[in-house]
Amino acid sequence: MRRIPEPFRIKMVEPIRTSTVQHRRAALREAGNNPFLLRSDDIYIDLLSDSGTGAMSDRQWAAIMLGDESYAGSRSYHHLAESVHSLFGYSHFVPTHQGRAAENILFSALAQRMRARGESGRPIFLSNYHFDTTAAHVELNGCRPVNVVTDAAFDTGSDHAWKGNFDIGRLEEEIVGNGAENIAAIVVTITCNSVGGQPVSMENMRAVYEIARRYGITVVIDAARFAENAWFIKHREEGFSEKSVADIVKEMFQYGDVMTLSAKKNGLVNIGGLCCFREDTPLYQDVRIRCVAFEGFITYGGLAGRDLAALAIGLHEGVDEAFLTYHIAQVGYLGERLVRAGVPIQRPIGGHAVFVDAKALAPHIPAASFPAQAVTNALYLEGGIRAVEIGSLMMGRDPATGRQKPSPLELVRLAIPRRVYSNDQLDYVADCLIAVAGRADELKGLSFSYEPPVLRHFLARFDEVF
Ligand code: F0G
Repeated sequence: MRRIPEPFRIKMVEPIRTSTVQHRRAALREAGNNPFLLRSDDIYIDLLSDSGTGAMSDRQWAAIMLGDESYAGSRSYHHLAESVHSLFGYSHFVPTHQGRAAENILFSALAQRMRARGESGRPIFLSNYHFDTTAAHVELNGCRPVNVVTDAAFDTGSDHAWKGNFDIGRLEEEIVGNGAENIAAIVVTITCNSVGGQPVSMENMRAVYEIARRYGITVVIDAARFAENAWFIKHREEGFSEKSVADIVKEMFQYGDVMTLSAKKNGLVNIGGLCCFREDTPLYQDVRIRCVAFEGFITYGGLAGRDLAALAIGLHEGVDEAFLTYHIAQVGYLGERLVRAGVPIQRPIGGHAVFVDAKALAPHIPAASFPAQAVTNALYLEGGIRAVEIGSLMMGRDPATGRQKPSPLELVRLAIPRRVYSNDQLDYVADCLIAVAGRADELKGLSFSYEPPVLRHFLARFDEVF
């Protein structure tokens, strides 16, 4: 296939520096063998996250200067409202400072609604797969997250086109088995980050929504990577190739009632989020009140006016098809290089990141010693590249039993910030990872020297297991 060059040219540069392996060894030791605790100056290529790490356009920077910092009713809020209405077709929303803030005000309102109905026990949130902060908000509100993604997601070698899909049979079993009155909401994560940035088909979104309607359950779309999901629908699902991504986006959101959005990914901003509602409902009114209390007045929601202005433009740039095609092809470029070298990765390659199958790469390291963290650390030592573990470490413990939750996958995620790195830099990443893969049998597992009680992957410290 012909390479797809960048649909932009570079106007400003930020220097980055390599370091010696001795320097990196000392830095990683200092960071307790947890790359989250490294200083960014000690990193050459940072693929920790695609969240808030993208480059804004000249138009966004210009909008920053025009941002209206009025406390209430800001002009920038109204620009953002135009973008939200025209893109998603949702009539009511509040801005939030990022995605998890939207989860906080929405999930606490949903949990409160369950308590007000007099339901006892731990209400359930059903999702294809809860992202880590999403699961944390469910649990912090006394509820239980249950994932019902298709089993195909866990076979990294198979080329199933829709590994983000719900297993519709299991979804309905969970509803019937637990009683629809005990389901707080269904959360549709598009794309499904935790299993490899894998898309959910329109057919699947429609089926989930029909079931939810039948049982009277609210559907929340976790829309962090909505534009990439729409791009995959256009290119993979029958009947969509002639539609624009913007039209597909509108159709996707018809299969939801509420949407939480981390704007730091497909919104192409460094900070920001949204909580949007298809219509004015008592739940929306409740969320508005929580917005004022936790985020700020309903027309700024924890953001500066300039952030709202940049997001109003970023949302449109995020669905630009030339940009999406380039970005998804860039992720594919890195993935294909690894595949050609025999490095096992989640297939097909996802929309925002390449996910290396550490269970296949280092089968001698048991899940309890975190094989994906061992590969992540080796990659940092090899070339100053920062990735992140998505496996047993991130999965954590069941708060009710204190036992490690079983993780079906042990992945190393190489997330590609948008409009930031060149393919030459990604070639360097591939070279380093291929070198690590070549000596994967020598890698050692890790054990905790400090384990935080929740969201442990962010702050944990480790010793190497010899
Ligand atoms: N939902 C999904 C699917 C996410 O991937 C994230 C964040 C969130 C919600 C929360 O949004 O960070 O704006 O509060 N994902 C980042 C990541 C952190 O690296 O994948 P947030």
